[in-house]
Amino acid sequence: MSKENEKKEGSELMEKIVSLCKRRGFIFPGSEIYGGLAGTWDWGHFGLALKNNVKASWWKKFVDSRRDMYGIDAAILMRQEVWQATGHAEHFADPMVECDKCHKRFRADQIEDKVKCADCGGKLSEARQFNMMFQTKVGASEDSSSISYLRPETAQGVFVNFKNTVDAFHPKLPFGMAQIGKAFRNEITPRDFIFRQREFEQMEIEYFVRPEDWERYFEFFKDEMFEWIEEIGIDMTKVHDIEIAAEDRAHYSSRTVDFEFEYPFGQKELFGLAYRSDFDLKTHKLDYIDEENSKKIIPHVIEPSFGLDRAVLALLTSAYAEDEKDGEVRSYLKFKPSMAPVICAVSPLLKNKPELVEYANTKVFAPLKAEFGRVAWDDNGNIGKRYRRQDEIGTPFCIVVDFETLTDNEVTVRDRDTGAQERVKVEALKDYIKNRLV
Ligand code: GAP
Repeated sequence: MSKENEKKEGSELMEKIVSLCKRRGFIFPGSEIYGGLAGTWDWGHFGLALKNNVKASWWKKFVDSRRDMYGIDAAILMRQEVWQATGHAEHFADPMVECDKCHKRFRADQIEDKVKCADCGGKLSEARQFNMMFQTKVGASEDSSSISYLRPETAQGVFVNFKNTVDAFHPKLPFGMAQIGKAFRNEITPRDFIFRQREFEQMEIEYFVRPEDWERYFEFFKDEMFEWIEEIGIDMTKVHDIEIAAEDRAHYSSRTVDFEFEYPFGQKELFGLAYRSDFDLKTHKLDYIDEENSKKIIPHVIEPSFGLDRAVLALLTSAYAEDEKDGEVRSYLKFKPSMAPVICAVSPLLKNKPELVEYANTKVFAPLKAEFGRVAWDDNGNIGKRYRRQDEIGTPFCIVVDFETLTDNEVTVRDRDTGAQERVKVEALKDYIKNRLV
């Protein structure tokens, strides 16, 4: 396929995904009723459920199933000294050019024509560095001492709590600290749906090791990252690990491997793995007393960093599918059942038959809801319409209570991906679903 056709197909696919996300209550444009705020997105009920499932899976793998990890939930507003010490105040910038005619600004490293404005043909300025941190003031005073920044990475919330964690828990090296939370960057050109936003979420680990052990743990976390990416259902054929050249690495990193994903708009960064050496602890004048010999050392840091929103985008892209039956195109999200926002939907065949509604509600919906939580009641429209709606939400199982159910206590369970239907005893439903909750 030619590059142009590939691009066109990619942007059509993105349009379908963005539109499905809005239509089905996953993701909405931020501040939409006032015209939108570029680089911000709001999460609806099903998007939030998907995002929570990703977070829970991450926390389980990287924190709860290990004995060497400590969680932290640090404040988003941090003192300006943090960002001066780390170099972010000076270096956390992207090159920017501005058009002398329409005054639109572009990221200099992301445009093909460096001379002419792509929008109006005006002349572009020389590139200058644009700092991406959001600045604000804390408290009533207006002087420069009140300046604060919204964190551009969750990592520093970890480092500033390194001493607190060591004092409270006395961990032995190697050990890690993990945080899930919001990060903010005043991106020059936010774009590609939730790929590049101004407000997004990160899931980060800072893993503290003896300096001589860094390579071993770098490789260890690279494997762990691949394992988790596969576990949540991202299409592995579209994931690539790329060694980042020294001149392209962030200022704090001595080695970086990026995990890239083939999004519909091209192959771009999904997650990153960095060797931050002793950069941050040294910067904050922090150290660690080695209990074995009472000597002070500065541990080195391996940092697996995951963008939660990019994980969701890769999942949506991996899950989006279409098929055709009787000349009609069906779109559906083939999430793994454990990741799906709704595990199963329960329907009475007809909503104006009280005996069906009563049975479906008390004998099927209520017990499943109590067991699995992510269970939907769906009696809107005819069965075909309900299936279509649940397919687009990515619900793996649709359960229908019909007149036969009233006598044989069996329901119809319909599989999202194949459309196959089977009769299952009501008393066996919980186990039926549990066994398929991979
Ligand atoms: N602490 C290291 C760090 O922040 P980064 O590569 O700048 O490294 C880590 O960001 C991850 O955060 C990226 O791999 C990506 O998944 C996500 N990310 C970065 N900028 C983003 C943005 N503007 N919108 C959405 N996600 C972003």
